[in-house]
Amino acid sequence: MKTPNQQAAAIVKACERLRDAGVAAWPVLADGSMPGADSAAAVAAKARTIPGTCEAHGFAFVAPFRNELAACVRLASGATLAGVERTVSALIDEQRQIADLRSLVEGFSQRLMQSYEETYSLFRTLRLVASSPDPVCQIRLVCANVQQALPFSWVAVAFRDDPKIVPELRSRVFLVGVAPRQQEVEAAILNKAAALLENEWTKVLVPGRSTVATLTNAEAVCDPISHDDHVIGLLIAGNKINENGEISSPEMQYLDAVAEFIGTFHENMARYSEQRAMAMGTLEAITAAIDAKDPYTRGHSERVAYLACEIAKAMGLSEEDAERVRISGLVHDVGKIGVPERVLCKAGRLTDEEFGLIKLHPETGHRILKGITLLEHALGGVLHHHERIDGRGYPHGLKGDAIPLTARIIGLADTFDAMSSNRAYRPAMPREKVLAEIARCAGTQLDAAVVAAFSKVDLRSYDELMTRQATAAGVLFQQAA
Ligand SMILES: [Fe+2]
Repeated sequence: MKTPNQQAAAIVKACERLRDAGVAAWPVLADGSMPGADSAAAVAAKARTIPGTCEAHGFAFVAPFRNELAACVRLASGATLAGVERTVSALIDEQRQIADLRSLVEGFSQRLMQSYEETYSLFRTLRLVASSPDPVCQIRLVCANVQQALPFSWVAVAFRDDPKIVPELRSRVFLVGVAPRQQEVEAAILNKAAALLENEWTKVLVPGRSTVATLTNAEAVCDPISHDDHVIGLLIAGNKINENGEISSPEMQYLDAVAEFIGTFHENMARYSEQRAMAMGTLEAITAAIDAKDPYTRGHSERVAYLACEIAKAMGLSEEDAERVRISGLVHDVGKIGVPERVLCKAGRLTDEEFGLIKLHPETGHRILKGITLLEHALGGVLHHHERIDGRGYPHGLKGDAIPLTARIIGLADTFDAMSSNRAYRPAMPREKVLAEIARCAGTQLDAAVVAAFSKVDLRSYDELMTRQATAAGVLFQQAA
């Protein structure tokens, strides 16, 4: 029979053996001390929270396992070491099974959470993309969102040089994040996109076998972007940020979905761009036909559109808004279609009645274009381009800022072009005189701020356009003769 001291020494030894085997185990002695434990007080305090351990008994045996208290065995005076070990090992096995199950549940919850975040990020990407009309901005947004959602150092999209691809994206690479030897990597991605073969596709690029992976010294995932079942570009993500750099299957699936989404998005964008180009071509043809009714106004709408757009940019408007001003300038006189040719082309002075007919054209134009979605931003410019800052214009006699900015800009471009062109009743005025007249009208007929912006516009392209139009008209005239 072992004495209490011998039994204590044996249990201290047993704990050491268990610790050697990877199980954190310390005996808690009756006085609360724990031989061998680094933070005895902390473990003992924990042990005391378990009923029936350290109260009136000689020894208690504590085996914390994976930061949890796994076993706490009460030692009766006759307990043997073998008995203690059996009990502890059974308890430890049970605890291990619980821990395994817990880790399984934790892994599952983590994966569920990750899936939720990835799906949410994909929807957020779709929403963001839908909110911007600029294809370059949209692709950058997609890359930024993927890079935020997945643990990759960089994400890139590249498009090949293909007529199917919208011009803004053709033969371009967009890389978001930080890649080693970034410029070389971008060039390699662009080359890879250019050399794409429909049926030869490697999903995981490996250093030594792929230039992109070799340059970045890491694996990269590569997905094709298709338009009408034809590969037009690729999506690549590389330099995964984690201990082993291994790319998981859910990450690949996520990138697959994004590449497919970019393809669909591109198809829509290309169709929209095609339809828009067709609509703009039709508009240009209609306005040119109206201008051509009077040989003296030929090309007027195109020149007004150009100048109005340049003034808008000089005023600090965005590219998108300046384009809207350009379209409005292009269609500003569409209502002249309703003015009889005998009035429109009259060489002499107009009667009051005839001028009354001319003055109807802004409202006629507004009526014609109302309801066309593409032109809804142009309507203000069409209806009000003959208003004056001092309120003496038509059709509504609006004053100052009550006149839409687009209309104030078109008003100036229209006046400038009218004075700069030959008319049936007078020849074109010299540039100096036109500019002096514009300056004189600032604050009465014209908006002073628009006049100030106009002074910054380089008129060389306007003059070139005028020359081109005159040459084309000359060729047509010669052909007709
Ligand atoms: Fe007009």
